[in-house]
Amino acid sequence: MTSAMTAFARNQWYVAAFGREVGRELLGRTILNEPVVLFRTEADGAGPGGEVVALADRCVHRRFPLSAGRLDGDRVVCGYHGFTYDTAGSCVYVPGQRRIPRTARVSGYPVVEQDSFVWIWIGDPALADPAAVPRAPHLAAAGNWTTVGGMEPIDGDYGLLVDNLMDLSHETYLHGGYIGTPEVADTPMTTEVDEGAGIVRVARHMDDAECPPFYARSTGIRGRITRWQDIEYHAPCLYLLHSRVAPQGVLPNADGTDPDAFHVEITYAITPSTDRQVYDFWSVSRDFGLGDEEMSRFLHDFNREVVLQDVDALNLLQKALDGEPEGYQELSINIDTGGLAARRILARLAAGGERPAAAAPTAVPAAR
Ligand code: FES
Ligand SMILES: [Fe+2]
Repeated sequence: MTSAMTAFARNQWYVAAFGREVGRELLGRTILNEPVVLFRTEADGAGPGGEVVALADRCVHRRFPLSAGRLDGDRVVCGYHGFTYDTAGSCVYVPGQRRIPRTARVSGYPVVEQDSFVWIWIGDPALADPAAVPRAPHLAAAGNWTTVGGMEPIDGDYGLLVDNLMDLSHETYLHGGYIGTPEVADTPMTTEVDEGAGIVRVARHMDDAECPPFYARSTGIRGRITRWQDIEYHAPCLYLLHSRVAPQGVLPNADGTDPDAFHVEITYAITPSTDRQVYDFWSVSRDFGLGDEEMSRFLHDFNREVVLQDVDALNLLQKALDGEPEGYQELSINIDTGGLAARRILARLAAGGERPAAAAPTAVPAAR
């Protein structure tokens, strides 16, 4: 008895790592069931360097994980018998003989480093268009935003994390005392779906709400707030939550400026690892208290606790679903509108339906 799993959309960009995680140590990750090893080339000042390389994480000799080996310059040396690969994945050395078998190579993957993320393309490399990588510009704008973040793996179908993030009414129940207050679950939301672009927008604007500890302690607002949550999900991987908090009744000016509000951009990258594991990359970016390290520590630790509440809940939910008979019934209500739209788009992408922006095939980027 196993529950249904959300199919993978292979011809899409996924976050493999934060850029800061990839350096001169080999990093192993599994993405869409494919083992991948990541590292950064040497930056020696004499020409280009410091680019991220992603190769299949299995040695052609006996399938030993290359991530358990070591780097020799920009070459990966297998930790078992020493087969050595260049940045394109071609084997350049085997032990005990001069002749290197022609088939001795591992695949490389297209990668793009952008907005603090390392994006990877697992599907057909001929379809990888770097211009189609979705943007999270606040993660790159170091001067205007201060960001904290991390990654937590969840032992569940990635569809469970998509469901979780598309409906924030769970904040009231699962994250009460952290980010949830009664108004989140009580306020109806609006949902807009752009099927062609593969984007789902869910908005919930609370005119008069309690200020949860996450915002009370970071903004210093005492009393009630106007709280807006505007979700923008770029299927399959990138999830943006534009959060606006202001003293109750304070609205943006007619010209769109909004100097008396506090803005937080909450970013998730949802990367399926295996059928039963998903990488939950999370970031919290703020436009106030810039560079304030104590506030950064608070927001990091507090939000990590919130993320771990979701991790625990989804681990538990997956276990429960795995014990259900095939074809179990769900019961959906209004709050599920965004999640159901996301599921429809994911099913279409997994079936090979391309979005317009990604349709034009272009060359594979050089860093691979
Ligand atoms: S398994 Fe890699 S060299 Fe033998
Ligand atoms: Fe949550």
